[in-house]
Amino acid sequence: MSSPILTAIKQRRSIRDFTDQAVDTETLHEIIRAGIWAPSGLNNQPWRFIIVTDATIRARLSEQTHYDHIVLAAPALIAVYLDREDMYDDLKDAQSAGACIQNMLLAAEALDLGAVWLGQILKNREKVGRILGPVGNLELMAVIAIGHPSRRDQQSHRKPLAEFIVNEL
Ligand SMILES: Cc1cc2nc3c(=O)[nH]c(=O)nc-3n(C[C@H](O)[C@H](O)[C@H](O)COP(=O)(O)O)c2cc1C
Repeated sequence: MSSPILTAIKQRRSIRDFTDQAVDTETLHEIIRAGIWAPSGLNNQPWRFIIVTDATIRARLSEQTHYDHIVLAAPALIAVYLDREDMYDDLKDAQSAGACIQNMLLAAEALDLGAVWLGQILKNREKVGRILGPVGNLELMAVIAIGHPSRRDQQSHRKPLAEFIVNEL
């Protein structure tokens, strides 16, 4: 079976090595636009975003994760939040955030950029919050690092399908 969407889903890789080239604002908005077209429970669209391109702020954020080299190398970061005011179910809203983030990763790929989902930084979510400023009822879900890939030879693997299918009734 083949289709452009299936191909993109399978060929997307987490990109952690970037050139110095900036990513323009309209492109970042396009990536977020793809994110907000993700499904959400009751179509509540609970996601919110902070775009970071400022080098000083990126450097400060890099100190909050083991993956500092990725945050330092990426010319753009998008922090993805859920807005507690718009949430209705913690589990389902977190699932919506995941769908949103995956859309954004695929959009980056479609725009010939590279991106990686950074979750480890959540361990320092309070400090990240202090760096990015007051965000009221927003809860950090992930930071996405985005840039122009300096290489595209990343490999990944998946276990065989049969290991995941529990039953076919
Ligand atoms: C919830 C979540 C958290 C992740 N956190 C990190 C992270 O902190 N640092 C990192 O380099 N990659 C992170 N990743 C990316 C995974 O390592 C990556 O998706 C996985 O190794 C499969 O590789 P692929 O995306 O190229 O298929 C995260 C992915 C997910 C879904």
